[in-house]
Amino acid sequence: AELRSATEELLEKAAAANSSRIPSLALVPTMGALHEGHASLMGAARADNDVVTASVFVNPLQFDDPADLQRYPRTLDADLELLGRAGVDLVFAPSEAEMYPGGAPRVRVSAGTMGTRWEGAVRPGHFDGVLTVVAKLFHLAAPRVPARFRAYFGQKDAQQVALIRRMVSDLNFDVEVTGVPIVRAADGLAESSRNRFLDAGQRQAALVLSRALNLLKERAAAGRPLDLPDAVELVSSQPGVELDYFEVVDPQTLEPLAGTAGEPLAGTALALLAARVGPVRLIDNTLLP
Ligand code: PAJ
Repeated sequence: AELRSATEELLEKAAAANSSRIPSLALVPTMGALHEGHASLMGAARADNDVVTASVFVNPLQFDDPADLQRYPRTLDADLELLGRAGVDLVFAPSEAEMYPGGAPRVRVSAGTMGTRWEGAVRPGHFDGVLTVVAKLFHLAAPRVPARFRAYFGQKDAQQVALIRRMVSDLNFDVEVTGVPIVRAADGLAESSRNRFLDAGQRQAALVLSRALNLLKERAAAGRPLDLPDAVELVSSQPGVELDYFEVVDPQTLEPLAGTAGEPLAGTALALLAARVGPVRLIDNTLLP
């Protein structure tokens, strides 16, 4: 109720300040432990909207491993500072009891078959948990006065944003989904709250992931065959890196594309990978060309 009235107040203020157009509200869902990747989502939302709401909630529904949920970093004070610097208007940081007053919900959103491959294959139920909490957040944060409603997600989690787009279109959610490009550290590693668990040697080894993706991107840009097996070999032969999957897929459906060895790419595609490096599982991807 507090979020609702604060949102309404800010949107009405924005509408009064500029009566010639409908104001817009952005929602940026996060699980906290915020870093530069999250800050970039806040920046994109801030640049395009009158009112920006960020949510911080470590969603138990999307963790299949209780130990992983336990050790997920919780840094609310630092998060609030970053959100303040990013110019976010409202922060929604509910407790577990507020989000799930009746305990774990019996009725959930199903990600269907698109949620069972890639990340979904190693984390059963993960994407059902993501879609269920995102659906709830959309409902809780949605404007109740005339306004456009936009939600921001990182391309870092390519399967997640593809599934959210699909949920929005399949289930007619009244929200515009915006994908924000991956933010990388200077050495090329995609920013992640899990990177803090890598030691220097593991971090060095992990750089093979972005190198392999860059290799494919260069080949695609030059109109050359991708030769995916060669890029796979580059990663597999890196000591300390245990490759889980590395595929070139359709960016919307995430179905593998044929002909990724010998022929140049026909349209756009997404190269998608996951690997275990030391104590963490890392994911990365790039759009091709
Ligand atoms: P979380 O992992 O906190 O990520 C929040 C958002 O930040 C996601 O949209 C994610 O893709 C984006 N993000 C993370 N690292 C990024 C990077 N290096 N560059 C660009 N964007 C990045 O994803 C979740 O939380 C949850 O599943 C959530 C959607 C909040 C539902 O619980």
